[in-house]
Amino acid sequence: MKSSPRQLSLIFADNEIIPKSKTAAEMDIEPLDATFRDSNRAPLHSWFPYLEGYSPRFVDRVRLEYLPNARRIIEPFAGSGTTPIALGQSGVDCAYSEANPAMAFVIETKLALLRATKQDRTRISEELLSLDRAIPALMSTTKPDKELAETYLAAFGSSRFFEDEALDQVRTLRTIADQILSTNTMLGNCLTLAILASLIKTSQLKRAGDLRFKTPKELLTKPPLPIEAVSARLQSQAKDLLNLPGLTGNAWHACNAAADLGDQIDDGWDGVITSPPYLNGTNYIRNARLELWFLRLVNKKGDLREIRDIVITSGINDVDAQTKWAPTTIGVERTVKELTEHAYDDRIAKMVGGYFHDMRKVMASLQNRVKVGGMICIDIGDSMYSGIHVATDDLLVETAEDLGLRTVDRVHLRKRNSNGGQLLRQQLLVFENLNRTRIVEA
Ligand SMILES: C[S@@+](CC[C@H](N)C(=O)[O-])C[C@H]1O[C@@H](n2cnc3c(N)ncnc32)[C@H](O)[C@@H]1O
Repeated sequence: MKSSPRQLSLIFADNEIIPKSKTAAEMDIEPLDATFRDSNRAPLHSWFPYLEGYSPRFVDRVRLEYLPNARRIIEPFAGSGTTPIALGQSGVDCAYSEANPAMAFVIETKLALLRATKQDRTRISEELLSLDRAIPALMSTTKPDKELAETYLAAFGSSRFFEDEALDQVRTLRTIADQILSTNTMLGNCLTLAILASLIKTSQLKRAGDLRFKTPKELLTKPPLPIEAVSARLQSQAKDLLNLPGLTGNAWHACNAAADLGDQIDDGWDGVITSPPYLNGTNYIRNARLELWFLRLVNKKGDLREIRDIVITSGINDVDAQTKWAPTTIGVERTVKELTEHAYDDRIAKMVGGYFHDMRKVMASLQNRVKVGGMICIDIGDSMYSGIHVATDDLLVETAEDLGLRTVDRVHLRKRNSNGGQLLRQQLLVFENLNRTRIVEA
């Protein structure tokens, strides 16, 4: 923790007065550290590609700068687990929440391997290589899982996400994973994770922002078969397991919804390192529908909706009659009004109002659990709808200050582009907890 936060001078940026912050370069943060690029190459972190993630190096740099003596840090939006893993490997305890149960499975599988002994990881590495050699023969003697065919139909109807051969292979791999899970949980979970990481790659879908069907042109390149993609995954898992630094801090899943963290963890946490959903319409749960189906967490129509109900309102489809979108600050009110007048869909204004309603609840809940003087570090980007700038970063600062947090730094991380080509930004917001409130909001 910083013993005496720096005196801040003022500069003008985007016509607003904001504190003069450290630069990312001064903190040794490169623009792409705040993206998943390096996680995609890093041992273990790369086991599940997660477009919305950042890198372990980013977590380390933020911790060393703002929470150098911290023993316990909260991560409310854990995603693929970058924060709890990086913290746990540095000896810092981390309680985390994650609303998407498929991502919670990804995180827990990785953490369980890090909690295992080095000898156990070496043994699992050997088992993974044997399994990889055995799978082609197993595929020809194992029946495809029957239930998965039924739930596919019940959840997705006639949508054709896979070619027939690929779908058969996915269902057969489900049976094989179940057989292994009945006797060897860690090996079974590694195989399950390898299959999850291969589903989109072997389907007719593509992640481009949200998940969409590939175009006929994109389909000219045939996707690999699941058995090929899974084999590549098993081999790289086996390699990574031989050289992983284990956990020296505890990391645990405290609850699903970030707003419930306040009820699930004790007091006196040193701070927070996180990246909440951006207000860019990403449909986290719908994007994970294949993984959720494979994990048997989505079995019929309506199951996705139930999971989506606890996610921070950040996509148009998250808006429904239950969304609480009444503006929570003056700035949010101004933006909601502009969007109501000009946006192409009236759900956009409600989505923005709903986002800040939900984020205020999460921030209040964190504020209650972080000790006085603790630092709350948030990576966030802004958005643009119908030419109207939604300054998510500014509005989060306003929300935080309204709750009694003090803005310590706003670090510019990198430039981004909106879908329409307008210039956007990504920032690290750092707040100090000045006092603990006992706000309980509906
Ligand atoms: C920007 S991503 C975080 C990525 C993470 N930093 C990483 O490196 O993988 C935001 C995450 O918040 C999760 N999320 C959304 N609403 C949530 C809520 N109410 N409670 C907990 N997690 C939530 C999403 O499922 C998503 O995984």
